[in-house]
Amino acid sequence: MTDVGRHPRIKLHTLTEVVDVKGYVGNFQVKLLKKARYVDEKECTFCGDCVEVCPVVRPDEFNLGLSSRRAIYSPFPQAVPASYVVNINECLGHNPSVCAKCVEACEKKCINFHMSDEEIVEKVGSIIVATGFAPYDPKEVDEYGYTRFENVLTSLEFERLVNAGGPSQGKLIRPTDMKPPKSIGFIQCVGSRSAIKGGEYCSNTCCMNTIKSTLVIKEHSPDIEVKVFHIDIRAFGKGFEELYKRSRRLGVKYIRGLPGTAEEIENKSLRIAIENTVTGKIEFHELDMLVLAIGIRPEKGNRKLQEMLGLQMTPDGFFLEAHPKLQPVDAATRGIFFAGCAESPKDIRDSVTQASAAAARAIRLMHKGEIVTEPITSEIIIEKCTSCGKCAEVCPYNAITVDKNKKTPASVNSAACAGCGTCAAECPFDAITMNHFTDDQIINQIDAMFENKPDTKILVFACNWCSYAGADYAGVSRLQYPSNVRLIRTMCSGRVDEKFIWEGFERGAPVILVSGCHFGDCHYIDANHWTEKRIHKVRNKMEKLGIRPERLQLKWISAAEGIIFAKFMGTMEALRQQVSQEEINETIEILKNRKRKMIDKNTA
Ligand code: FES
Repeated sequence: MTDVGRHPRIKLHTLTEVVDVKGYVGNFQVKLLKKARYVDEKECTFCGDCVEVCPVVRPDEFNLGLSSRRAIYSPFPQAVPASYVVNINECLGHNPSVCAKCVEACEKKCINFHMSDEEIVEKVGSIIVATGFAPYDPKEVDEYGYTRFENVLTSLEFERLVNAGGPSQGKLIRPTDMKPPKSIGFIQCVGSRSAIKGGEYCSNTCCMNTIKSTLVIKEHSPDIEVKVFHIDIRAFGKGFEELYKRSRRLGVKYIRGLPGTAEEIENKSLRIAIENTVTGKIEFHELDMLVLAIGIRPEKGNRKLQEMLGLQMTPDGFFLEAHPKLQPVDAATRGIFFAGCAESPKDIRDSVTQASAAAARAIRLMHKGEIVTEPITSEIIIEKCTSCGKCAEVCPYNAITVDKNKKTPASVNSAACAGCGTCAAECPFDAITMNHFTDDQIINQIDAMFENKPDTKILVFACNWCSYAGADYAGVSRLQYPSNVRLIRTMCSGRVDEKFIWEGFERGAPVILVSGCHFGDCHYIDANHWTEKRIHKVRNKMEKLGIRPERLQLKWISAAEGIIFAKFMGTMEALRQQVSQEEINETIEILKNRKRKMIDKNTA
């Protein structure tokens, strides 16, 4: 952090909040709100005279309330810049007649209560999202008595307690009597791997953090009895298994089973009951202290940032990478990258690895000073555009601007456009061309497909990233599926225009399948939500026209689901066999009539 603060080419904004982000790759404008520090950070020598005279005492957040701080304070020992900050809500001094003791004590005269928050706009080419995590709040799991018993701590509180710079200078003591405990129990997976409390995912770091804590205890006080209650121990990193074994060799007892409850007994000690899942027996353990290995939760501000940056999120609330294997640090929005627990729970080593990768990806993108954009972008046909704004509404990347009031035609920012084609599919006036996936190109493929024996064919629209790859996977895995399946590839299922479906049926298609990525996996943020809405709408129209809606299917198939692809093609074939030639002819007639009526209406 100090290196970052001193680096001539890094601008560090502390006490600052991101309030808005506009723009696109290579040209982001980030609006920041820099909070007033009330201390001139350039003049402050960090002497501490102000802190000594401050009469306001508050719990120290850095030590998780285990020690106290003043209203003028340094947030943590290595904070950058090395300067104090005033918490103006706690301070009495902004009314000098009440206090202002710090102002008098400061020789350099760097305390200024007239400072105000400042708005800053930074122009940047790429953004790395490294918002960290929020620790799980164990107040929910009150069966362990966190809110009732003082000797129940979280793993983070324990960490501060045994830290040399912590409230007890690293001395391991019980909060109630300030004496060293004789026995300590660690309860694993608090707020992790639970469908009811916290998250269903493994928080990744808790097992190793507990193992490290047991080693610290045993190295300093070998006589303390240490027990770890767990579901299983996940020591999968380099050298981690060895640490686990060392902890066991030092006498730490690992007991498989999580306690149901904890109760306070004599001398403020704790008694827990567990079912040992190895022996199958109920056990009771009496311990002087309990440590809850709390899980990692997504940072609370992630939602706001997601809206600002147009990012995807997992159902757990972490940011979703563009591709788990091939683009693990990239966001789906170009020019944005992830580092650390913003993306998923990680330990320090993994966070550093990901941060280095994100920095390298950002530099790679920026160092040339220019960006090569993909040719697959949408283009507005100005003469046809009515400025209705539908395209801008559906664009997952905010790449389209349109002024409905001034009635100026929509315009596409090709640097921000990722090429999903949802805008072209949704435009009611055919005023958007999707380069390389134009209407004509797709309709020509449909024509060619149904030139001969259309009643024997199954038309499948498959998105490039998931379903098409799923079909490929079925092929390379040599899975058998009906040979009459004909695929049309689009970049995203969002590109499948309603008119492609009508054209398919009009040319004699017995059945049509639209397939794409599962929700949350679409490579164009949430474009496939529009696919679902569109298919629903088309099916309703089919019903009204007297065409069986089952003949149009929608299926989400991922790149790894080759088996599902092959199976579903079997289902499609069974459906196809239920469609008679009479039904197909009737559909063709209905749709031709519909087209005629539409042409008459437009020319009237
Ligand atoms: Fe597959 Fe959007 S990329 S549905």
